[in-house]
Amino acid sequence: MSSLDKNSVSGSTTGSGASAESDRNSLTIGADGPIVLHDVHFLEQMAHFNREKVPERQPHAKGSGAFGVLQVTEDVSKYTKAALFQKGASTEMLARFSTVAGEQGSPDTWRDVRGFSLKFYTTEGNYDLVGNNTPVFFVRDPMKFPHFIRSQKRLPDSGLRDNHMQWDFWTNNPESAHQVTYLMGERGLPHSWRHMNGYGSHTYMWVNAAGEKFWVKYHFHTRQGMAFFSNAEASAMAGSDADFHRRDLFEAIAGGKHPEWTVSIQVMPYADAKSYRFNPFDLTKTWSHKDYPLIKVGTMTLNRNPENFFAQIEQAAFSPGNTVPGIGLSPDKMLLGRAFAYADAQRNRIGTNFHQLPVNQPKVPVNTYMFDGQMAYQHSGSAPVYVPNSGGRPWADSTGPAADGWEADGAMVRSAYTLHAEDDDFGQAGTLVREVFNDAQRAALVDQVAGSLLGGVRSPVLERAFGYWKSVDADVGRRIEEKVRTGAAGKPAEGMGES
Ligand code: HEM
Repeated sequence: MSSLDKNSVSGSTTGSGASAESDRNSLTIGADGPIVLHDVHFLEQMAHFNREKVPERQPHAKGSGAFGVLQVTEDVSKYTKAALFQKGASTEMLARFSTVAGEQGSPDTWRDVRGFSLKFYTTEGNYDLVGNNTPVFFVRDPMKFPHFIRSQKRLPDSGLRDNHMQWDFWTNNPESAHQVTYLMGERGLPHSWRHMNGYGSHTYMWVNAAGEKFWVKYHFHTRQGMAFFSNAEASAMAGSDADFHRRDLFEAIAGGKHPEWTVSIQVMPYADAKSYRFNPFDLTKTWSHKDYPLIKVGTMTLNRNPENFFAQIEQAAFSPGNTVPGIGLSPDKMLLGRAFAYADAQRNRIGTNFHQLPVNQPKVPVNTYMFDGQMAYQHSGSAPVYVPNSGGRPWADSTGPAADGWEADGAMVRSAYTLHAEDDDFGQAGTLVREVFNDAQRAALVDQVAGSLLGGVRSPVLERAFGYWKSVDADVGRRIEEKVRTGAAGKPAEGMGES
């Protein structure tokens, strides 16, 4: 909400509301003389200017978003009791889309995965779903995440992006193959945010009113149709309009073209998780739609632009840890790592009380014992600040099995996941290349990867990359090697995996 009513003010004011003398001339001794220290308005302007940036998000720095609504049209109450997913429910929401590796000013159309962050202001507290435009991810243990992001960002000496570093990481972590295949395919260059699908990516838990638990994956299919840029188009756009995706969304909504997504889920019975042919908590894997078909839930529509980018988009704080009753996390180690990482990043990036900012505030009463701290705005008056208390302020006190918990046993270990019958690093990537991609898409993949490898990838990473792609698909791998050896690849677009 804006605090500026242009009709009720004449001139500008200081931060404390008194009318300011001048926004054009500082106070000096004579027209040419020195500036005096008691020109408080001037000093306030200078000092605040020095502080008007907050740190950009570590990954996903460049993005934008819009407000909208989730409308549930189907009855999925047998899977979850969450209020926002009951038939007929209509929930106000915020979406933010982003690139992963680029900084604030980087072009929207560099090849990259795209973030797909959603915040639902539900009647039971805020529910955040922080996914991507792909259903899988590069790694399956959160310990690897900071290393992954560093390898995709910039070299320590020159500050340049570096294909060698990117492929060094990917080929040393072969579980990345499925996501790298998506990234090097069409999904790496969406035409706009309106034209891409979104995924929760992880497996989440849903719990119904009877306490029964299910494993769930979220799908958001664009009703605008998927559309992509070619390398040449994306490169040209990066040069001519670095903010193309941001502009496209803002202008579409301003012009009354409200983008829509069909929201669906895949549901796995709780007990199936132990024996499913793929480990269902491994974020590098999808669940076959034949095994677990899509079940429609409703529609998500974006219909309102931000009034202020900084206040409502830059200060927006999404976290996979923000769940509501009827929705839980899962044994996916990545998800568990993320449940910590986001709020911690936001305390650093925006401040201790970031959850009190209007864009992050839930639409329900809050009774938190998080107390004081920088920029505390909401408070609990003189109510007791400790638990248990005799002053009548309620607190939480459930014990026993967690409603959204699961079973775990065994000694403490540092280990990869237990493998299920069909688990390996390359199998699903190979299926994507052979059974989902057509001939033209396979040829484009070969060109894209070869072009990327030609952008400065050296031995031994280069040879490892050939082996990596031969493990995904023998023929595609052979064609990539041949193209690189003969230097015949076309020039790739900028971005992840590019020069
Ligand atoms: C252990 C793995 C991961 C860690 C530690 C991690 C950490 C982070 C951090 C610290 C941020 C910045 C948050 C902020 O400053 O507000 C971020 C942003 C983001 N991450 Fe992750 N991330 C991980 C994996 C993932 C995965 C698997 C996905 C998607 C499936 C994802 C999607 C996003 C998105 C979309 C954003 C942007 C959020 C926004 O729009 O504000 N991340 N991540």
